[in-house]
Amino acid sequence: MITAGKTSFRLDTEHTTYLIRKTKYGHLEHVYYGNLLDKEDDVEALAQKRSIMVGSSVLYSKDDDVYSLDSMCLEWSDNGRGDYRHSPTEFKMPDNSFVTDFVYENHEVVEGSVPMENLPTAYGGDKTLKITLKDKAYPIFIDLYYTVFEKTNVISRRAVVRNEGNAPITMKRIMSISMDMPDECFQMYTLDGGWIKEANLHKRPASYGITMNSSTTGASSNRHNPAFLLAEADANEDYGSVYAFNMIYSGNHYSIVEKNERDYVRVCMGINPHLFEWVLSPGEKFETPECVMSYSSQGFNGTSHHMHDLINEHIIRGDYKKKERPILLNNWEAHFFAFNEGKLLRLAKDAKKLGIELFVLDDGWFGERNNDKAGLGDYKVNPKKLPEGMKAFADKIRNLGLDFGLWFEPEMVNENSDLYSSHPEYAIKLQNRSSVFGRNQLVLDLCQKEVRDYIVKQVSSILDEAEISYVKWDMNRHIAEAFSKALQNQGEFYHRYILGLYEVLKRIFEPRPHILLESCSSGGNRFDLGMLCFSPQIWTSDDTDPIERIKIQTGLSYFYPQSTLGAHVSEAPHQQTLRETPLATRFHAACFGCLGYELDLKYLTPEQRKDIAEQIAFYKQYRKIFQYGSFYRIKSYKPNKVIWETVSEDKETALTGFFQILATAAESSDKLKVIGLKKGRYTIRTRPQKLYVERFGGLIKHVAPVELNPDGVIMRVANRHYSLKDCVETYTCSSEALAAGIPLCEQFIGTGYHDKVRMLGDFGSNMYITEKENIQQK
Ligand code: GLA
Repeated sequence: MITAGKTSFRLDTEHTTYLIRKTKYGHLEHVYYGNLLDKEDDVEALAQKRSIMVGSSVLYSKDDDVYSLDSMCLEWSDNGRGDYRHSPTEFKMPDNSFVTDFVYENHEVVEGSVPMENLPTAYGGDKTLKITLKDKAYPIFIDLYYTVFEKTNVISRRAVVRNEGNAPITMKRIMSISMDMPDECFQMYTLDGGWIKEANLHKRPASYGITMNSSTTGASSNRHNPAFLLAEADANEDYGSVYAFNMIYSGNHYSIVEKNERDYVRVCMGINPHLFEWVLSPGEKFETPECVMSYSSQGFNGTSHHMHDLINEHIIRGDYKKKERPILLNNWEAHFFAFNEGKLLRLAKDAKKLGIELFVLDDGWFGERNNDKAGLGDYKVNPKKLPEGMKAFADKIRNLGLDFGLWFEPEMVNENSDLYSSHPEYAIKLQNRSSVFGRNQLVLDLCQKEVRDYIVKQVSSILDEAEISYVKWDMNRHIAEAFSKALQNQGEFYHRYILGLYEVLKRIFEPRPHILLESCSSGGNRFDLGMLCFSPQIWTSDDTDPIERIKIQTGLSYFYPQSTLGAHVSEAPHQQTLRETPLATRFHAACFGCLGYELDLKYLTPEQRKDIAEQIAFYKQYRKIFQYGSFYRIKSYKPNKVIWETVSEDKETALTGFFQILATAAESSDKLKVIGLKKGRYTIRTRPQKLYVERFGGLIKHVAPVELNPDGVIMRVANRHYSLKDCVETYTCSSEALAAGIPLCEQFIGTGYHDKVRMLGDFGSNMYITEKENIQQK
């Protein structure tokens, strides 16, 4: 709900209130953002009080000695009028100064969301407030848009600049949002990392001065995801004040949190001003990306639920919105570039037998793409690998009863390619410098219309010819040497690239809504809300080691729901870490996302095949809850445990993944808490899982009735065909008891294996199913 009074604006979601007021000089003051207020609450009581003149400050009016913009909580702010904090704008005005003074001009409230011309937005909002500010000296306007998503408790914000004067202005910085709040000893949480170690959560105090979270690589980046949290110092998963912010944008982003000497904290978020410059000519407007924010007094799980709901309800669009995603097999880790039709068909047949639904052919099927030095740009099937062409191959896969998906990296070109030979000018590079390469490739210049048309034509024709139902859209290097021959002003490059990307995605996929698009950028190098507006899921990371995935998926879970995370079971020892992990743990980690397998099935033992077939059947049974359930990070007081839970929409079923990182000697008792359930009686049980004989090594003599050589033939044969049972527990109790925590059976401590000992060891895990009693009986 939006209530626009004479001097104040109030935005309510189901559980939160956001309050702004107009000051007597027309500036917008931020008054409050927090739990839902009473209808009678008024702005006067909640606004920051101004009754002293702060020494050395600059006053806005010489007749008013308590009005200094520097010591106010503002909703937008300028340069050169007394506010010395980071301004959301840096405009060179027609008088060549950088001074601006944007004050209230008018406002309107409209139904629903207001889409943008060139940038994706969240859709289906309830109401939108538009407040127009005007510079006091020039007819330059800024429209601030606020859209309320009541049920999901999210408010989105963005700014549009309009030049209605007769001279151009140069924008060096234009943020989407700016907002000041009194400090609550805020801690800032960001998702940082790099290739195969994306989205690790880091915490730091939002201290005096500026703390920044940004990317400069041309993508939202694996270094710093655009999303971040500001939380009161004591907040944890279930308690405390938390603000979450994210941005619907896939390019260079920038957020700052600035604490000033009055203990006010400013949050600005928008396009990165780094190497940005945009000339806004008379009559033109500039749209900034939409940012989304949410508040919860119920800790990190609170804001995560809001953000997850927003994404599932208002970001993901098209045929795959709220739809269960297929279980896929991707051939990349099995083959890399070394495959032929025979190998692929064998893999697909095996996959089908295990219950897989979609076969994805990854890199290497086109041009001279036999390694990563050639072929990018030439999406013509390689006849040595697929002699009868893509359509014939796709038909063979479909005849096996599988859907068929294909990998592309359309934004890139290898020098060694037909595309580069015929159109070297399509690549981003400078004539007067030698090019810099990433993975032996150059980036195509999406600022050029010819390049965008080329990509749309190439990709679309294969999609139609082979009736592809899934696309993995990759992007495997950072942008460098930002320069386009299509641009007069190179300060526009990075943003125009992203606008070009969105245009291409729209042109290819909007007319083909039946295609499930999974975006990828060396894994999670472009994991953001902008991409999610086009691709319902994203390949989370090239790291498929579940122990690393636990960190990565935990990090992402603060902002992104499981339905958006591509998560695969791969071979161990893992390609990325050489770590050996149990198959059960690989599966359990991948369950909390869109499940896939990425390994050479031909080397599986008969026992592993049975295991995987059971895993897939189990996932199918609970797929909806794994992909769309309410996700909780369960606090564990032991540092070597990670516990994830997902709860069904009716709150009658919960699935809990209990992961042990490194085992400790003589582990004390573990407790399993299950929260978020409807009041009632429940049965909780362990998913039965296989314990491979080889896991015991020399210890097998303490476990088996006869002494076996741990390296002998019998042991190897036994490992291929048999497995031991891992501890299965079943209890019946109330939702209250589950919330308090059920003590679990003790862990193995070297000897004494039996069916009431949990065999976790390093990297072990269990999955628990909690179901309301009546479901059990059904
Ligand atoms: C990137 C992707 C991988 C795979 C390879 C293929 O690294 O993240 O999943 O598709 O490219 O070259």
